Amino acid sequence: MERSESSDAKMKAKQLRRINGMVWSYKTGQMISLQIHVADRLNLFKSLADDFDNDFVTRHQVAQRLGLHPRWVMELLRGLTAAKILEHREGTDDTECFRLTEVVAEVVANETDSLLFATGAFAGGVDAKLSDAIVTAFKTGLGYTYESTNLRTGEQGAAQTKRMLGVWTRMALVDQVIAAMNNGRVTTALGNGGAILDLGCGAGVAVNELAASFPKATVHGLDPDSVSLSIARKDALKANNSNAIFFQAYGESFEPPNNIKYDCVVCLDIIHDAPRPDLILLNIRKMLKPGGTLLIKDIKSTGDFKKNLETMNNLGLLYGFSISSCLSSSMSQPDGLGLGTLGFNPIVAKQMAESAGFQRFKINDFKDPANLYYEMVSPGGEFEHGLSRQNTSMNVCVPDLSTLPGPMTCACHYGMSLYTEMTMDSVPSKM
Ligand SMILES: C[S@@+](CC[C@H](N)C(=O)[O-])C[C@H]1O[C@@H](n2cnc3c(N)ncnc32)[C@H](O)[C@@H]1O
Repeated sequence: MERSESSDAKMKAKQLRRINGMVWSYKTGQMISLQIHVADRLNLFKSLADDFDNDFVTRHQVAQRLGLHPRWVMELLRGLTAAKILEHREGTDDTECFRLTEVVAEVVANETDSLLFATGAFAGGVDAKLSDAIVTAFKTGLGYTYESTNLRTGEQGAAQTKRMLGVWTRMALVDQVIAAMNNGRVTTALGNGGAILDLGCGAGVAVNELAASFPKATVHGLDPDSVSLSIARKDALKANNSNAIFFQAYGESFEPPNNIKYDCVVCLDIIHDAPRPDLILLNIRKMLKPGGTLLIKDIKSTGDFKKNLETMNNLGLLYGFSISSCLSSSMSQPDGLGLGTLGFNPIVAKQMAESAGFQRFKINDFKDPANLYYEMVSPGGEFEHGLSRQNTSMNVCVPDLSTLPGPMTCACHYGMSLYTEMTMDSVPSKM
């Protein structure tokens, strides 16, 4: 009897994964359609076929020929490669090459006499204002902040992000991920009335969750986006979370009120969106108490396009998110580093952590197929060495997020167990 119940549960879990994967494949189609549509409008396919004779070319050659910004062109060429429309030849970011084969050109570029020409069908179905904005960004190089997009669409865009990321936040953040941070010390500190900052809090799901779970704690959320913040404040009021306070500010320059120092700062899906994540890490180190904890949850990516291509079956989807949201936000200032959706990875994290003065960090994957969890502890204080393996003996459960019905879990199942747990020393300085 027991055996059949557990095999029923396994079958149900398998079925759920299959359906989740199927539904996300429709979203992937939408995001790849966006990339095909943008490429068509930028004349990319015809240029690869006619100007470059279906030969391998670098992003710089394409950018120069079409008068576009090379960072944006890289994102699109890689996205179209992930979608198996272009071929890729390995190199550095500057020397890697892409080509449109003659066969594929018949489908995406040859509008003159190919009966199989299909790109014309991609003109509709994509929000015209969004694609206009993206096409302009390819030319100017400057992207759009979440706020400017949300001001255009109203609360709808912010609510979509809230719903997409909210399930994970409600189910995993406090009980699993925060509980595991710094060997349980973050939970203890917050339970005793400590302070935490959610930097890039968006519509405030995490802030409200933390405020309700730790009523004695001071819970701050900051975000530059006034539209998301207005949702966050309304939700806090509804939930009676009087210890949740929101600030409209940038992570790079925020100064906490009354010089407060935090026990913990969390950055949930924001570092790759921020124009200057290097300055954010520097600022966070100043805002943390000695021995305080920084948690960065960010998209799982290797830092090597070829390796990502081989291991991630959702790459086309992620590049679509990048040109429509993440790269756009990270290029929204002239000095933006332009990380984009795939741009924050263990190698970049290591460089930025070291420059910001974090002497050690640990990368956990908690079996989450979509994200990595970077745990950094600020220097000084009795917990400075809290991340060393010797100290992991406290009674802390290691989260297992493999079955969490969160966003993209199945869409992201690429079985990359590279990072089950890594320390700063074991991250290579390049791939
Ligand atoms: C994908 S959303 C994630 C929101 C929220 N953390 C969540 O999990 O729902 C990224 C957020 O980063 C914010 N952001 C972008 N640049 C930022 C910056 N320089 N400082 C702080 N937040 C920033 C955006 O406004 C947006 O709300």
